[in-house]
Amino acid sequence: MKITSICCIGAGYVGGPTMAIIAQKCPNIKVTVVDLNVERIAAWNDEDVNNIPIYEPGLSDLVAEARGRNLFFSTEVEKAIDEAQMIFISVNTPTKTYGLGKGMAADLKYIELCARQIAAVAKENKIVVEKSTLPVRTAEAVKNILDNTGNGVQFQILSNPEFLAEGTAVQDLLHPDRVLIGGDATNGQEAIDALVEVYANWVPKEKILTTNLWSSELSKLTANAFLAQRVSSINAMSELCEKTGADINELSKAIGMDSRIGPKFLKASVGFGGSCFQKDILNLVYIAKTYGLNKVADYWEQVVIMNDHQKRRFSNNIVQTLYNTVSGKKIAFLGWAFKKDTNDTRESAAINVSDFLLNEQANIAVFDPRVKEKQIINDLIYLKSRSIEDIKKGITVYNDPYEVCKDAHAIAILTEWDEFKEYDWQKIYNNMQKPAFVFDGRNILDAKKMTEIGFIFNAIGGAN
Ligand code: NAD
Ligand code: UGA
Repeated sequence: MKITSICCIGAGYVGGPTMAIIAQKCPNIKVTVVDLNVERIAAWNDEDVNNIPIYEPGLSDLVAEARGRNLFFSTEVEKAIDEAQMIFISVNTPTKTYGLGKGMAADLKYIELCARQIAAVAKENKIVVEKSTLPVRTAEAVKNILDNTGNGVQFQILSNPEFLAEGTAVQDLLHPDRVLIGGDATNGQEAIDALVEVYANWVPKEKILTTNLWSSELSKLTANAFLAQRVSSINAMSELCEKTGADINELSKAIGMDSRIGPKFLKASVGFGGSCFQKDILNLVYIAKTYGLNKVADYWEQVVIMNDHQKRRFSNNIVQTLYNTVSGKKIAFLGWAFKKDTNDTRESAAINVSDFLLNEQANIAVFDPRVKEKQIINDLIYLKSRSIEDIKKGITVYNDPYEVCKDAHAIAILTEWDEFKEYDWQKIYNNMQKPAFVFDGRNILDAKKMTEIGFIFNAIGGAN
């Protein structure tokens, strides 16, 4: 079967970039991305392509090229489902905040809604592709809903998890390490082949891996668990470095040169953030528990526990170093996004660190090159730990890096934006309260230079 029309439900960080690439690489396929969020779709359709809702290097150019040609953004979900041969489900799958599995399991209500909507609308056979990250065996539930509530048409379910990282999404999609497609080889080979052919337009065939559905679903959770585990492992060692005089950057380099370990994902930090690592590990822990595999669950849960510890440790260190009180002191945050080159702030360490410091009555001043004030305030409202009035009293958002640091007692670096390295640190120092402290939560600044200027400089893991 040759695919000529695709619909993607969910115009978020995955749906938008993924479909932009498919549209660019497959000019003969009409790609329609739909979402219930009217504001988000309007932003995707904004005449000024710089106003698309997601900041990713290279993405606006891609959208400018394909939008209106074979890439469309719309709120007409049913129409798009009806017209498509292949439907990607790319909606969010957050951690449940209620009921059974609260705080651990993935909330699949949006997935189920999509399945029911597809079933209700489809009048012809369709291929349904799980793009969202899902608990293993979700395809079974999706198939059940489709088969039992549909109009008697045939549905093939595929699992095609996404491995892009934010900030490098376009490059990751253009040159993926692999594309994973899970399906039922007995009854669904045609569907598997159809999706392979879509990717084969730009991905070498040897990088397109096909597996059974459950391996595909579980591989995605496993990949994220392994990646996050490396960050927690190096962060655990950073604490030991601080006690022993070892330097975490030297440690990372030394172990990373072992080809069996490899150099990536060994950067010590204030703690990992992002919408997926924590949620996916907690989901994995929950799945293991439901099968009674408590040792497996405990093993992986430790990755999240260590991450919470790292964020708390960073915050504690600020308070302790500032003579055990930050009350009434201006603490400047450079960075709010969970990593550089994205405007995404979900689960960013900055949120937890600011929450802790607000409890200590600090005055937090924030500058992030890509994150707007509204988002920062919303992130703190979402925590439900204080009133909006108190949040607004405690946090001030700046548009200028030098203003945010002016008269501050301390600077905390929460995101590794490249531009932070290029600032005039002497000028920043001159305008700060003395002694002037810097807490580099990303180990991006040169400790020696900073100390020479006069800063009392703190990096993670005793890095020099
Ligand atoms: P997101 O919140 O940015 O986007 C999801 C979108 O789906 C939202 O705009 C929401 O309005 C829409 N939506 C929800 N229910 C809908 C419905 N019934 N009909 C139409 N639209 C609906 O989420 P995201 O970051 O794109 O993540 C989506 C999935 O991809 C998650 O499962 C996530 O774990 C996974 N994932 C994310 C990333 C990433 O980097 N963000 C990477 C790989 C995988
Ligand atoms: C991660 C994975 O890398 C993607 O493969 C996956 O598709 C995605 O999750 C997902 O499923 O959502 P992402 O969260 O966008 O991507 O970004 P990462 O580069 O993995 O960074 C995650 C967090 O770990 C960030 O806060 C980052 O600063 C931190 N990190 C990463 C470190 O602290 N040290 C490192 O060495 C690497």
